[in-house]
Amino acid sequence: MTEKEISRRLRKMLSPKLYNHCAGVAETAGRLAESLGTDVEKARLAGWLHDAAREWPGERLLQFAQDNNLNVDKYSREEPILLHGPAAALLARQWGVTDREVLDAIENHTLGRPGMSLLAQIIYLADKTEPGRSYPQVEALRDYAAVDFRKALRMVAANSISYLLQKENIIHPLSLDFWNWLVQNRQKGV
Ligand SMILES: [Fe+2]
Ligand SMILES: [Fe+2]
Repeated sequence: MTEKEISRRLRKMLSPKLYNHCAGVAETAGRLAESLGTDVEKARLAGWLHDAAREWPGERLLQFAQDNNLNVDKYSREEPILLHGPAAALLARQWGVTDREVLDAIENHTLGRPGMSLLAQIIYLADKTEPGRSYPQVEALRDYAAVDFRKALRMVAANSISYLLQKENIIHPLSLDFWNWLVQNRQKGV
């Protein structure tokens, strides 16, 4: 399926607000990919698709996961919304997307994952900095994203974790692993 066909399909499926968010992530991810010298088309495609299952109710996410043998851990069982990335990746596969890197980026956009590809990192960052996002630090993050991608990525990951801490919510171990991986990379100068 072409990008155009995918965006048309998403327009029918998603609320206008979420559709605009996906368009914003595609745009931002495409620009980041270009500045980092990686595949713009893949970044745009993953950006469009990352939240395709974001508006599904919890029961539907759980059912879809169960029907398709997706891994449902104890955290996702409690908070099925955590499955919207893996569910969107599977949906993308059903729509004919075969690129492993694109599918991984969609799958891991919510929690992050240690060792994730540059494309997945781009989607993770674009998700939080696309033009439709507005929160106190977003301007600073956009500035960093343009000049120091890795710093911006760490800031976004730190924000997500501190937000969860402030709300006294559970932090998924994958998010902590992702954070530790980012810090180790900085220490190693990667
Ligand atoms: Fe999402
Ligand atoms: Fe998103």
